[in-house]
Amino acid sequence: MKILIVYGTTEGQTAKISHFIGGTLKDGGHEVTVADASQTPPSPALYDAVIIGASIHMHRYQSAVLHYITSHIETLRKMPGAFFSVCLAIASDFEEEHKEARKIAADFLKHAGWEPVMTTQIAGALKYRQYDFFTRLIMKMIARKEGRTTDSSKDYEYTDWNAVREFAKEFTVRVRIHPVAAGTAEPVRY
Ligand SMILES: Cc1cc2nc3c(=O)[nH]c(=O)nc-3n(C[C@H](O)[C@H](O)[C@H](O)COP(=O)(O)O)c2cc1C
Repeated sequence: MKILIVYGTTEGQTAKISHFIGGTLKDGGHEVTVADASQTPPSPALYDAVIIGASIHMHRYQSAVLHYITSHIETLRKMPGAFFSVCLAIASDFEEEHKEARKIAADFLKHAGWEPVMTTQIAGALKYRQYDFFTRLIMKMIARKEGRTTDSSKDYEYTDWNAVREFAKEFTVRVRIHPVAAGTAEPVRY
């Protein structure tokens, strides 16, 4: 199967996750293209299935991802697709934060008018060493509030790579069961 992965990223974690998903799918015998939403990605019309990912910053996803989805919405509605959201809230010990993260994803997809067959939440990373002074300050405040580490001399990765691998595998299973339109399949929420 020809699968396209399009991602939005700000500090690189969603790009890393996208390439990892791509590697998992290639190991499963699929032909995969991984593209940055901000770098003129190919049309989904050239593929059998699509996976789109974006990360949350201040409760919002990268505008290039919204632009990609809305520009290709008619094609996306006719093919199997999955959306993955990368953020830190989902790695929190507080259920409220998880709910908020899921709501951001649900509102985004509703606004975009896209109903992928699968939607999942993936924990991202705290990249203190990449942030400028102001961003580092904000992230330390958020981290303190969530009981996370504020030692900004290091970066911290919360991504569960086994869960990411399972998401990729589950997607190919679902695409085989529902090969035509996303709208005909029962959406799976993780
Ligand atoms: C300035 C800034 C704002 C952020 N805002 C949120 C947020 O509102 N909710 C959240 O769960 N995570 C938030 N995060 C965490 C990011 O989603 C996380 O670091 C993710 O790994 C970033 O992925 P990327 O490297 O692909 O951009 C924020 C991170 C930064 C640097």
